[in-house]
Amino acid sequence: MTQAPVNVTVTGAAGQIGYALLFRIASGQLLGADTPVKLRLLEIPQAVKAAEGTAMELDDCAFPLLKGIDITDDAKKAFDGTNVALLVGARPRTKGMERGDLLAANGGIFKPQGEAINAGAADDVRVLVVGNPANTNALIAQAHAPDVPAERFTAMTRLDHNRALSQLSAKLGVAVTDIKKLTIWGNHSATQYPDLFNAEVGGKVAAEQVEQEWLKDTFIPTVAKRGAAIIEARGASSAASAANAAIDHVYDWVNGTPEGDWTSAAVVSDGSYGVPEGLISSFPVVSRNGRYEIVQGLEIGEFSRERIDASVQELIEERDAVKQLGLI
Ligand code: NAD
Ligand code: LMR
Repeated sequence: MTQAPVNVTVTGAAGQIGYALLFRIASGQLLGADTPVKLRLLEIPQAVKAAEGTAMELDDCAFPLLKGIDITDDAKKAFDGTNVALLVGARPRTKGMERGDLLAANGGIFKPQGEAINAGAADDVRVLVVGNPANTNALIAQAHAPDVPAERFTAMTRLDHNRALSQLSAKLGVAVTDIKKLTIWGNHSATQYPDLFNAEVGGKVAAEQVEQEWLKDTFIPTVAKRGAAIIEARGASSAASAANAAIDHVYDWVNGTPEGDWTSAAVVSDGSYGVPEGLISSFPVVSRNGRYEIVQGLEIGEFSRERIDASVQELIEERDAVKQLGLI
């Protein structure tokens, strides 16, 4: 039997990440080499023409799995029947801008999008929020989709996870595939905590294979501030690496994470590890049967506890700020 196409909605489709993402989705890297896809591109009216240009290029690739492209500036149409929603469109942080400033600028985008997902998305919809501040934007969208199970709303910390893998592999001179069980905790921001105490390299605790000074003063800040460093260097926020992480996040969600390892994703907290229920915070997760589940039972030492708490505190403050703005 031929598989029906999966509807994939990408917001901000004419942006930088959109340009790096759409071709990979259409080529089968998001869902698998046997899964046909239909793309829905959502843009603001001024950028619809640019999205049409990208769609022409997608046509010109003659991707066998690509079964159609719709372009719209209407969120209701974009999310009608959607199975996978990648919420990328937002105002990117520019030089000198703090993440907090983004709350007010971006919060308003995610309320109507949550409502549109609630109204029309497919029963199996999975949502990944990439647009910053990603965790809190996901919280806003989720708050406006009461009929969709909360666990279907996630935010992206996979880029941070991949950055941490890369930094540690360079430090230890090992392949990224030799590193297992790494975790990003908390917010996709400079307060995030990349945890090497539960990570393993060659079956041994990763944190014990590096100098504690390097861990504290180089590794953690390098990973946590990598987004800002890219903006400083490129004059624009990361795009291809962000698109790559979005592909990884959804591919693993749908197809499962490998046995003996886990990954990082911001998911709705069930209260695990002292993270208040309902916050969308990054955790160690495995994907089983198409669901991300928080890995349970990890030991959290004092060093880690302090840093997780600080990042979670920032999420609480972001949540309270959007509550005050009437966005949730
Ligand atoms: P960009 O400015 O190049 O593109 C954003 C696009 O979104 C634009 O085309 C804009 O027209 C569109 N847009 C704005 N409002 C919209 C709306 N209401 N509906 C639909 N489209 C809308 O930015 P980019 O570089 O593609 O980055 C997008 C977002 O991703 C930014 O918020 C950025 O900070 C974030 N980001 C997140 C991560 C992460 O790891 N979570 C990594 C990198 C970037
Ligand atoms: C990143 O991590 O590269 C981005 O989230 C940075 C940003 O603020 O856009």
